[in-house]
Amino acid sequence: MQILDGKTVAAAAKEQIKARTILHKNNIGITPHLAAILIGNNGASETYVASKIKNCEEVGFKSTLIRFELNVSESNLVEAIKKLNEDASVHGILVQLPLPKHIDEANIINCINPAKDVDGFHPISVGKLVQGLDTFVPATPLGVMMMLKYYNIETVGKNAVVIGRSNIVGRPMSILLSANTNPGNCTVTLCHSRTQNLEKICAEADIIVAALGIPNFLKVNMVKEGAVVIDVGITRVVDEKKKSGFAIKGDVDFENVAAKCSFITPVPGGVGLMTIAALLENTLKAAGAE
Ligand code: GUN
Repeated sequence: MQILDGKTVAAAAKEQIKARTILHKNNIGITPHLAAILIGNNGASETYVASKIKNCEEVGFKSTLIRFELNVSESNLVEAIKKLNEDASVHGILVQLPLPKHIDEANIINCINPAKDVDGFHPISVGKLVQGLDTFVPATPLGVMMMLKYYNIETVGKNAVVIGRSNIVGRPMSILLSANTNPGNCTVTLCHSRTQNLEKICAEADIIVAALGIPNFLKVNMVKEGAVVIDVGITRVVDEKKKSGFAIKGDVDFENVAAKCSFITPVPGGVGLMTIAALLENTLKAAGAE
């Protein structure tokens, strides 16, 4: 069993992004600039956005954080996005999700200029992804693909099972794994809350991506000997022993599953770290760098 170490892969990716950023600045005088919109003060969102901003600084990007109160109106939010769309010095725009209930998420995502859609959530980005065209790929599934590539994991012709059909992770993950690319070329089964015989389907998989958000969901009986297990779960659970008061738990029962796998990602220290590297990659792309 080998651990797929997000720390190592993300650090390597960030070093490369840092070098390409310097080249881009020297060649055409452009510094990649990410603008993040954060609404309210949800603890997890605060942490993620702070980490995105910090990582931008680390690789030499500019960043702007725009904050709104929880009760911001949809029209004010749209106005802010339009301003960023028109601002030539901003290359990437992200609106941290989830949004408050009174705001129409689809409408907000639709307002982002697709050329600046570094989250890859805009319908144009999604459409291009489905058609195998060059586009912004959502950060979490892109991070998983970067990891598979780094560790040279064979995916061609493999049976991959993705658990979870979210627009952010599961669905784009299933598209990427089935694409005619390397990594890719898997036979993909996309499972969800209404799937029957999930245990059996998982137990036949060569690659499992667990992205359903239920801690310890994937048990040892659901995993084939030698499978590759990718854990996308990042649920906060109360843990009084931790200074923060919570621990981050994955969707995989790591303790019991790990020994059975050929490769497995830990939580924390796995896919989570890759999502930031993938966002940086998208922002560099939005700024026109190679
Ligand atoms: N919330 C959870 N994941 C993400 C993400 O990748 N992008 C944004 N904007 N919000 C999120």
